[in-house]
Amino acid sequence: MKPVKVGICGLGTVGGGTFNVLTSNAQDIARRAGREIIVEQIATRSDNPACDTSAVAVTDDAFAVAKNPEIDVVVELIGGYDVARELVLTAIEHGKHVVTANKALIAVYGEEIFAAAEAKGVSVMYEAGVAGGIPIIKAVREGLAANSINWLAGIINGTGNFILTEMRDKGRDFADVLKEAQELGYAEADPTFDVEGIDAAHKLTILSSIAYGIPLQFDRCYTEGIGNITPDDVEYAEELGYRIKHLGVSRRAENGIDLRVHPTMIPVGRPIATVDGVLNAVMVNGDAVGDTLYVGAGAGAGPTASAVVADIIDLARSFDAPASARVNHLAFNSIDDVTVLPMDEVETAYYLRIEAQDKAGVLANVASILSERGINIEAIIQKEPKEGEALAQIILLTHRIVEKTMNDAITAIEGLDSTVGEVTRIRVEHLN
Ligand code: HSE
Repeated sequence: MKPVKVGICGLGTVGGGTFNVLTSNAQDIARRAGREIIVEQIATRSDNPACDTSAVAVTDDAFAVAKNPEIDVVVELIGGYDVARELVLTAIEHGKHVVTANKALIAVYGEEIFAAAEAKGVSVMYEAGVAGGIPIIKAVREGLAANSINWLAGIINGTGNFILTEMRDKGRDFADVLKEAQELGYAEADPTFDVEGIDAAHKLTILSSIAYGIPLQFDRCYTEGIGNITPDDVEYAEELGYRIKHLGVSRRAENGIDLRVHPTMIPVGRPIATVDGVLNAVMVNGDAVGDTLYVGAGAGAGPTASAVVADIIDLARSFDAPASARVNHLAFNSIDDVTVLPMDEVETAYYLRIEAQDKAGVLANVASILSERGINIEAIIQKEPKEGEALAQIILLTHRIVEKTMNDAITAIEGLDSTVGEVTRIRVEHLN
């Protein structure tokens, strides 16, 4: 059978990994695809010392690859929004299938890109965009297609998980771990995307769309970063039997769907709580299947290349099939415009840490603010002031309550004469 010819745009961490996997596993890949997959051309502005590209045509113009009549599949690995969007649309316009690892592009411009692809009868594949090497797109879009998905929750940013793990286990400094994640090729070009939860929000947006058949709604995803997590919170969470993870959570509620990324306390007994380092993990609950859990490397050259190449193989296999035989880009043939709940309307349990003067009645005041609003306390710890400090800390776990009620309670607690500064709030999910 005629080989499939691929053009790789971008030869950084992921591009280099993709080239190397396609080259080193070429025989097995051909056996799986039923035809050879050849790297016809590469667009890069700088060499990748990990790759021997001497036998391949190399250009510094990615658009030349997108327009190259010899090429069947354009692999977009340059990242970012604008140039990547134009490049992908150009490739589609020239009748190419596209494989991308660019979650930002899909989360923000996915619908425009998929519409263009459908009009041209080509496919845009994006497995590598979510959770790196874990085949989570295939699992949710195809493997769980029988289910009505109830909720999903995931550690979907390797850099953030790596930072939280190193801080917890080795007491390392935030900036120092972030620098290492950048050197290892885990972090985004702008690492605030990792630590502020924007990268995870891109991925959660995509996962939620294919899980529930809703539009891509990145702008409605609530995002909170890990920058305010203190060593005290990490320690108190462990004392209460929980671990703090930066989680993307999406749940089908009665009045809509929640879509949120924030630091989250989860019980240490849940397998996902033990997923550390650069690993990602996604839990998906479907009505027929129940709980499922997917774990693997979420970033890095090899794992991300594994997902990119799997998409290329999928395309190569279905090359001669009509477009209608391929799985829909967003899993569903019709999209439900279900409301994404504003954060105020979302219901979760909470961890609160309150700094207060060490005097009689403070705890009673806090408890009565919560009980007046129907907030049920699950556990309380009071910590005496540390040596040389004047303030005590009250740590509370609550049962589930709507966020706006908790906001109101926090405002009232912060207004007490005996409390100091802002209340720390970490949302708690039991994932059951
Ligand atoms: N910066 C991302 C992460 C890369 O750390 O997970 C993979 O999407």
